[in-house]
Amino acid sequence: MTVSPIDVVVLASGRGSNLRALSDAIDGGRCHARIAAVVSDRASAPALELAAGRGLATELVPFRGRAERPRWDVELLETVRKHDPALVVLAGFMRIVGTPLIQYYARHIINVHPSLLPAFPGAHACAEAVERGVRISGCTVHVVDERVDAGPIIAQAAVPVHPQDDAESLHDRIRPREHRLLPDVIDRIATGDLSLSPLRLDGPVSIPDEALVSPSFLEREP
Ligand code: GRF
Repeated sequence: MTVSPIDVVVLASGRGSNLRALSDAIDGGRCHARIAAVVSDRASAPALELAAGRGLATELVPFRGRAERPRWDVELLETVRKHDPALVVLAGFMRIVGTPLIQYYARHIINVHPSLLPAFPGAHACAEAVERGVRISGCTVHVVDERVDAGPIIAQAAVPVHPQDDAESLHDRIRPREHRLLPDVIDRIATGDLSLSPLRLDGPVSIPDEALVSPSFLEREP
């Protein structure tokens, strides 16, 4: 069966390791997608440099403060729309996305988050997981809606939390899981295995084994 790649626009504010993993998965034939553009709110985001280095289109929509927020929300939507994506991917985009983009791309925006949602939403997920002393954490890919980190969950992967972990070491353990899960979910959307409109979650059948939260997917102790 020939699968047509879907066009995605990636929104990223940070180092861009998920962007790199997605781009690698596409180049390696593991994800049927095309990155139409990478959009950032930060001129200094390493993700932008990475994108440019790989010949991807880049866009900057700088955030100019709260007073300018309504205008920024519209500018962000217009910037994304220019590239006409089938899917918008938040990969470390550190701003809450406004209503214009969310409504225009309803059920076609996904986010990757470094916790097993609904535990630890927000910007300090790893620190809070360590502080609460949870023994298992992980990552979640979910549909973005107007609530923060609370849209329908698509897939999750788990990692153990060690007693000596701090936020950074836990995040370092979670990232490689994100790097597999996100391209995998995008590929499943591209191949029609997973539908976001309406979200079809008919159990494990539509979810890859490695994305299930199961003991077999936990990292083993060395
Ligand atoms: C990831 O851990 C993601 O879950 C969170 O932001 C981080 C982005 O990392 N939303 P990177 O920029 O992709 O390395």
